[in-house]
Amino acid sequence: MSKRNIVLVGFMGTGKTVTGRVLAARTGMELVDMDSMIEERQGKTIPEIFAQDGEPVFRTLERELVQELSKRNGLIISTGGGIVLNPDNIADFEKTGLVVCLKASPETIFQRLEKDTGRPLLSGDKKGQIAALLEKRKPLYDAIAHGVNTDGLTDEQTADPILKLYALEP
Ligand code: S3P
Repeated sequence: MSKRNIVLVGFMGTGKTVTGRVLAARTGMELVDMDSMIEERQGKTIPEIFAQDGEPVFRTLERELVQELSKRNGLIISTGGGIVLNPDNIADFEKTGLVVCLKASPETIFQRLEKDTGRPLLSGDKKGQIAALLEKRKPLYDAIAHGVNTDGLTDEQTADPILKLYALEP
């Protein structure tokens, strides 16, 4: 039988990429980072795609990649924070994977992203933008059946409950 994917969703700065690395190391499963894959394929960074092509083009690229990856098995997939904006993305990932939402307080997110310059949606008043966007998207993240609050947890500690859940139904 083919193994399910593990799909990490959640707001920017909740630790999807680092937790994905830990999960891949601990399971031996292949790691796919959606933002990195989009950047590689387009030959541009995410900020360049947003600036030159616009957010709708980025969302289409994201959607196409979800359709492709959700047909595969045995992957650890770290998504971009906006993946929840299209409910079809989550529905597709749920068909072949365990979807887990990583969460963190606005304060933790700000601390983690304070010096970051690679997030086009946080290019102005970062604290204000995090608070506003998180508030707007909260219902979408809360709708995901499985969530892990990462505040105060190490990457290894974040991975533990995810691996427990996955072991129940690999
Ligand atoms: C976005 C999150 C980013 C990236 C893009 C848009 C979002 O990914 O996909 O900047 O809409 O929340 P991370 O969550 O990995 O930062």
